[in-house]
Amino acid sequence: MRRKVTIVGAGNVGASCAQRIAEKGYADVVLVDIIEGLPQGKALDILQSGPVIASDSRLIGTNSYEETADSDIVVITSGVPRNPGMSRNDLVFTNMEIIRGVTENVARYSPNCIIIMVTNPLDAMAQLALQVSKFPRNRVCGQSGILDTTRFRTFLAMELDVSVEDVFACVLGGHDDTMVAIPRLTTVGGIPIAELLPKETIDRIVERTVKGGSEIVSLLKRGSAYYAPSAAVAQMVDSILLDKKRILPCAAYLEGEYGIDGVFVGVPVKLGANGIEQIIEIKLTPEEDAALRKSAEAVRELVDVMKPGLKK
Ligand code: NAI
Ligand code: 2OP
Repeated sequence: MRRKVTIVGAGNVGASCAQRIAEKGYADVVLVDIIEGLPQGKALDILQSGPVIASDSRLIGTNSYEETADSDIVVITSGVPRNPGMSRNDLVFTNMEIIRGVTENVARYSPNCIIIMVTNPLDAMAQLALQVSKFPRNRVCGQSGILDTTRFRTFLAMELDVSVEDVFACVLGGHDDTMVAIPRLTTVGGIPIAELLPKETIDRIVERTVKGGSEIVSLLKRGSAYYAPSAAVAQMVDSILLDKKRILPCAAYLEGEYGIDGVFVGVPVKLGANGIEQIIEIKLTPEEDAALRKSAEAVRELVDVMKPGLKK
């Protein structure tokens, strides 16, 4: 029997995730949205690519949760994306109401699933899903670090004119402008980038990485990135469903790791069949540590902003 992945939100990110996962062929996909016909139409369209791409994955679209029952993974992408001039944090009040309702349904119909949060502001929405679902922390994770690092890797590969496959990057922290790129742990073919590029170039690339989401928002004029984000989600789904135990940067709920407690922050984790199976603690320099704590505080402030609404 194939595994089951539900994707809530059949917009740009959700539909792209459905396509990428269906192309792998190892899981059936249920696409959920509130707009009548939208998930049904997109699911049918992706399903009809099956014979061409040699995938037997079954896809269905729905406006309710019955068909999502007993999913192994639920990817949550429902909510409003950013438009030019909006920060991810501007989305908090709209999206928290959506995520609260969605998570209640997810926990009710798939009590044993692993939740991958995508909706922004990412870290705060992951925290909300953890609270509402009452799942253990290993079963709620957020996608952001793979996207941030893949942007860093792409820009470095372009600068050095090397294969993207040889570039490994480390970015920690919240999925916002406080994210912490760690050039010290970023390598090309095992060589630290400081050996290959001057500091000014690295700083410029870090700056572009931090603003990577805004760069795409300002180009698109409406909505935000979805091709790279869906590739990042698919990598997380792979690691969980195939129990690959990859070490990937994901948003995880910290309980003392990195000296941070009670908040979601992007850190390297081991991602396997049980979700977040280990949080990898890297020894940071005092500057890196201070930047990570500052980023965690920015997430905490946003979580605090949500608190009055959460008491309803
Ligand atoms: P979109 O507008 O294309 O799609 C969102 C979909 O959610 C719409 O189809 C909408 O009808 C649906 N929706 C709204 N309320 C719902 C509900 N209660 N139940 C089910 N579906 C509902 O937006 P897009 O581009 O797909 O982005 C989705 C979210 O993902 C945004 O919050 C965006 O900021 C975030 N995002 C996060 C990334 C990350 O790295 N964590 C990367 C890219 C986007
Ligand atoms: C991004 O970084 C919108 O969070 C999304 O592109």
